Amino acid sequence: MVAPAQESPPRPLGLLAELTHRCPLGCPYCSNPLDLDARADELDTATWARVMREAAALGVLQVHLSGGEPGARRDLEHIVAAAREAGLYTNLITAGVGISTARLAALAAAGLDHVQVSIQDSEAASADCIAGYDGAFARKRALAGDVVRLKLPLTVNAVIHRANIERVGAMIDLALALGAGRVEIAHAQYYGWALKNRAALMPAREQVGRAIAVVEAMRETHRGAIVIDSVVPDYYARYPKPCVGGWGRRSLNVTPSGVVLPCHAAATIPGLDFWNVREYALADIWTSSPAFNAFRGTDWMVEPCASCARRSVDFGGCRCQALALTGDARAADPVCHLSPHHAGLAELARSDADAAYVYRRI
Ligand code: SF4
Ligand code: FES
Repeated sequence: MVAPAQESPPRPLGLLAELTHRCPLGCPYCSNPLDLDARADELDTATWARVMREAAALGVLQVHLSGGEPGARRDLEHIVAAAREAGLYTNLITAGVGISTARLAALAAAGLDHVQVSIQDSEAASADCIAGYDGAFARKRALAGDVVRLKLPLTVNAVIHRANIERVGAMIDLALALGAGRVEIAHAQYYGWALKNRAALMPAREQVGRAIAVVEAMRETHRGAIVIDSVVPDYYARYPKPCVGGWGRRSLNVTPSGVVLPCHAAATIPGLDFWNVREYALADIWTSSPAFNAFRGTDWMVEPCASCARRSVDFGGCRCQALALTGDARAADPVCHLSPHHAGLAELARSDADAAYVYRRI
C-alpha cells in the first residue's frame, strides 16, 4: 500500500493539534479513534512547542488546538504562547466545559486568536443528553459569552444528526444570539465513534432535504450578520468531498501521543506506516513518511477514479470511508454515484429508531 513519493508535495496550510483525548463530554459522533490515547502517553509542553516551530517553518499558517478537550491540558497557555511565538494563527476548538472566565483571559493574554465552541442542540435538555453531560449547555453558553466579552472572534460548531436536525434553524439563531461571526453546520461524518453510532445518528432523507433548505434560506436572510458554512451529509451526496482537501496536500494532524496523520481517521487504514514527532522532524514526516505518500496525488488510484475527469478535484473522496464501506482504501468513496458500491449506501443510510448511543469514553 506504500507508494513512492511524487514530485515535491505542496506545503500544508493547517495543523490540527490533538493535544489530548481527555474530554468530559461523551458525544456519540466524536471523530476521535475508538482506541483513545492515555494521559501518560501525551506529548509534553516542550515537544508541542517544537512541533509549532517546525509547522511554521514548513509553511503552516493556522493551528487548530483540539482534542478531546484541549482545556484539559494544564499547559494550554504555554502551547498557545509557543504557537503564537512561532507566528501561527491559533484557533481553540473547545467543548466549552472546563475553561473558566479567568482561564480564557489567560489564553487570550498568551496570544489566542480565535475560539470555536461546539453546541449539541438549541435546547438544553437535548444538548446535554447528546453530550452525555448534565449542565454542558449552560457552560457552553457562558464560555461563548466570555469569548465575545474578550472580543475574540467566535465560531459555533453544530454537528447535525437525527436528534437535532429539525432544529438546525434554531441552532443558527442561537449562534447569532451568542454573538458568533460564523457557524459551521456539519452533518455527522461516519468515522470513529460516529460509525459505531451510525444507526442512532442517521437522519432520514426527507429530514436532510428540509435542513438543507432551511440553511440556504437563513444564509440569505442573515447575509452580512453571520457566515453560515455547511457540509452536506455524505451519504446523500452525488459526488464525494475532497476529504481533508486531498491526502497530504493541505493539512496534517498530530495525535496526543505524537503520531502524525494525514487525516483524523487515517489510523483505521491497516498497513500504513505513521511516523511520530518524537522521532522525526515534521518536515521529514510531511515529505517522506510512507503514510503521507500512500495516497498523495492520483498515481495510487484504481478505476473508476483512475480515468475520471474529477480525479484531481475530489481525489476520489475519503480514503477512510472507502475502507470502512468497501474494505479497500484505494476504492472510490462509495458516496460517488460512479462507485460500484454506491447502491449499497441507501441500505447503510437506514436509521434505527431504537438504537441507543454508545457514548465516547476514555
Ligand atoms: Fe471522484 Fe472517483 Fe467518483 Fe471520479 S469516480 S467523481 S474521482 S470519486
Ligand atoms: Fe481519512 Fe477522509 S477521514 S481521508
